[in-house]
Amino acid sequence: MTRFTVNGQPIEYRLDPETPLLWALRDASNLTGTKYGCGTGQCGACTVHVDGRPTRSCQLPIGRLEGSFVTTIEALSRDRSHPVQQAWVAESVPQCGFCQSGMIMAAAALIDRNPAPTDEEIDAAITNLCPCGSYPRIREAIRRAGRMRSGEEQ
Ligand code: FES
Repeated sequence: MTRFTVNGQPIEYRLDPETPLLWALRDASNLTGTKYGCGTGQCGACTVHVDGRPTRSCQLPIGRLEGSFVTTIEALSRDRSHPVQQAWVAESVPQCGFCQSGMIMAAAALIDRNPAPTDEEIDAAITNLCPCGSYPRIREAIRRAGRMRSGEEQ
């Protein structure tokens, strides 16, 4: 049994400790907002926060998460006032949408620790892949979210 907190709720998973977090979230907790893309830690579609850090959940065995705090896109989506959510809408970021939940989680983690990232810092932090290539809008939305977080923009 592995115990950790998901979106503020303590959960006991009676799963093989080698089960990737992605499948515990999707199959055992029905949190299907976190997506499966490559399954090899490359694309970032499965990004969640573990103790506040953006983490690819497809490669992380739940056995390593005892006592951790996991946040998924569902928790962020409940909070419609989160600046990343608002900036994403304002900049019309999504195209096909598949990468978006992981992209938003990575962006939210960046803005939480650095509300005014440079292009280089954005590129270093956001290693998620977008099949549609909407990177310029993603960058703009991150900048806007940072300004909103700093109170420079509504
Ligand atoms: Fe986890 Fe691609 S599905 S990185």
